[in-house]
Amino acid sequence: MAQTLLKISDLKVAYGGIQAVKGVDFEVREGELVSLIGSNGAGKTTTMKAITGTLPFLGGNIEFLGKSIKGRGAWDLVGEGLVMVPEGRGVFTRMTITENLQIGAYIRKDKAEIARDIDRVFTTFPRLKERANQLAGTMSGGEQQMLAMGRALMARPKVLLLDEPSMGLSPIMVDKIFEVVKQVYDQGVTVLLVEQNASRALQLADRGYVMESGLITMSGDAKVMLSDPKVRAAYLGE
Ligand SMILES: Nc1ncnc2c1ncn2[C@@H]1O[C@H](COP(=O)(O)OP(=O)(O)OP(=O)(O)O)[C@@H](O)[C@H]1O
Ligand SMILES: [Mg+2]
Repeated sequence: MAQTLLKISDLKVAYGGIQAVKGVDFEVREGELVSLIGSNGAGKTTTMKAITGTLPFLGGNIEFLGKSIKGRGAWDLVGEGLVMVPEGRGVFTRMTITENLQIGAYIRKDKAEIARDIDRVFTTFPRLKERANQLAGTMSGGEQQMLAMGRALMARPKVLLLDEPSMGLSPIMVDKIFEVVKQVYDQGVTVLLVEQNASRALQLADRGYVMESGLITMSGDAKVMLSDPKVRAAYLGE
């Protein structure tokens, strides 16, 4: 079986007195695409932030490549390959597309390789290439999502965490984003995908987890989950 890249054990995260994540266990193995689904406020983003060192966690543990990440900062973890595309994208609006992509590779020193990776991102997203010198803040939501994903890829992630990449996008743009997620996965990058679009997310995934009110309530093979009447009733609008 493939190596476990991420192991989350009894994770607990609180905002002040409010516990948003109440003891969550799951894992992500090398080469997998794992989808985390669940309704608004379930604790998905909070979990992703804890995994990437953006938010401290009080209880439990998170291991990346067999080592605890407790107390380590987000920038430090990016350098080891734990890279998140946050909800709402978080591109640098007053910088150009190219500058945003360069920042994605800030941890790397290999100039020639960085240039090659920018070309690779431009091949994946021709739209970004056409607009290389445009300010990121003037791009559409879908274009900003492409840029955010491109910037994350510039860090050469071992695990790419995507928080609702399809949010607020038109159907065509949603198709494009899911297509790119699949491409990235096919290239061998391990992906943890948080999505409201449960059906699309499970169609793409190897395994899935359902999160509700700070807990994992269901998990399993993604195809099995897709045909599970309970999942279908609760998350696939049936
Ligand atoms: N900065 C914060 N301060 C206080 N409470 C917060 C904060 N961020 C999130 N919460 C609360 O924690 C809970 C989990 O939020 P979280 O953003 O993780 O949910 P989510 O599953 O990502 O939801 P969505 O699908 O709407 O993005 C919610 O009840 C939310 O109100
Ligand atoms: Mg969220």
